[in-house]
Amino acid sequence: MWKPSQRIKYKPSSGSWPNAAEVRDAKLFQPLDYQALELNDRTWVPAMVPWRALETGEVTEDNIDWYGRFARGKPAALVIEATGIRDVPSGPLLRIGHDRFVPGLSRVVDRVKEESGGYTKLFIQLIDFLAVRRRPEPAKYFDRFLRITDNHRYALKLQNTTDDEVRSALKTLTNRELADVLTGSELESLTHGYRERVTDTHLPHVADLPEQLPALFASAAARARTAGIDGVELHFAHAYTMASFLSRTNNRGDGYGGSPEARVKLALQVIDAVRSEVGPDYVLGARILAEECIEGGSTVEDATFYTEQFARRGLDYLSLSRGGKFDDAKQPKTGWAVYPYTGPSGYECMPQYLSDEFGPFGRNLRPAKAIHQHLRKRGYETPIVVAGGIHNFEQAENALDSGAGDVVGFARQALADPDWFEKVRTGHGDEIRLCVYSNYCEGLDQKHKQVTCNLWDRLDLDRPCQKTTDGRRRLVAPNWQR
Ligand SMILES: Cc1cc2nc3c(=O)[nH]c(=O)nc-3n(C[C@H](O)[C@H](O)[C@H](O)COP(=O)(O)O)c2cc1C
Repeated sequence: MWKPSQRIKYKPSSGSWPNAAEVRDAKLFQPLDYQALELNDRTWVPAMVPWRALETGEVTEDNIDWYGRFARGKPAALVIEATGIRDVPSGPLLRIGHDRFVPGLSRVVDRVKEESGGYTKLFIQLIDFLAVRRRPEPAKYFDRFLRITDNHRYALKLQNTTDDEVRSALKTLTNRELADVLTGSELESLTHGYRERVTDTHLPHVADLPEQLPALFASAAARARTAGIDGVELHFAHAYTMASFLSRTNNRGDGYGGSPEARVKLALQVIDAVRSEVGPDYVLGARILAEECIEGGSTVEDATFYTEQFARRGLDYLSLSRGGKFDDAKQPKTGWAVYPYTGPSGYECMPQYLSDEFGPFGRNLRPAKAIHQHLRKRGYETPIVVAGGIHNFEQAENALDSGAGDVVGFARQALADPDWFEKVRTGHGDEIRLCVYSNYCEGLDQKHKQVTCNLWDRLDLDRPCQKTTDGRRRLVAPNWQR
């Protein structure tokens, strides 16, 4: 993962944990009631992909154990990982693009209700993504993937030659020479792996996204409701399709790119389609970027404009993240796909303990506050969920006190200790296992391995517990012995 050059080391701090009276008065533990969103307090576990689904996209026992374990700690809300809205092969990631996925998701609902005694609300993040292929072996790329054109013949000065002769000639060139022969996207396919963009409107299925996506999101949301999930979160953040429409880098010429009004158009159509499918009494939220954190990308001004549009459209909450883009990601090794959390914007999304003078804790609070203030000034009360490096009670309370948000997201901290919420609530804050922000979890995610935390995945391995496929790590945190 990319790290800021300053490499200042930060340690998590336990701060001061609240006693029973302080818990009673804490903003963090006040209920929230806004439109369809009713939470028992202001704690939230944002979406985290654990790589536990079947290759066919169905829920596994491991998924059920994973969400059940979070629910045992009783956060007010728990968001199921980014779940694909299409019924297409996408590896061991959850899918909701067909009715056959509903029974498995219902089992997650049942376990979460059971473990939390009905305390935790369960939402699901709905995602669409475009094709990303692995970086190919150069020989394979020239032999099998590259479509030979007359432009190649012209650049190579090889008129009247067969495709095979052109392929052979290309294989002898250095990367510098290839840069003069291949188009930008051909070169990218060779050096980083093929990746579709929302601006590839020469591809019919990309041109058609505005036609297709509202209905795909709407039917996925209907399935979530049938499964008994309490609400849906539209994934409008990070490196994926909807965030790419919102991005300042989107220059589609069909009315869905260019100006902020055009870039937000599809998101509004998706919101309208989902709302008309699930009705006004079902929780509908979205996760969006407060800042894209890439050169030429969307800024907090864009996010302010978008969130106001979304608030006017009646979303029940807005969850703010930052960065996590392909644009500045590291070149992957041959055989691997580019991963959107390996560059500076990836760092902003999941900052780790080696940081710059701003540090890894609360990097999204400043833009979140600007967005929050703007919405309130315009008369919108839409709750804002903030996250990013928050691990102790004081930080969480400050995030609410300072007006950066209304609900606090704890992703990696909840992974390090799913009982954070119950421990703080019951005056056992000093027993919390604090996240050290080493990004061990994120490293596993990058390698598509079952995600765990190195603060607990080797503990009590001799006792009966579910283990990773290699048998070397436990899959869920050990139980809290009170
Ligand atoms: C292993 C892992 C998987 C993640 N998967 C998702 C995801 O599916 N959707 C999403 O919006 N964010 C995802 N995130 C980002 C988190 O939700 C969160 O925004 C980020 O980790 C910063 O919050 P934190 O500092 O509390 O961890 C993931 C993070 C991790 C560590």
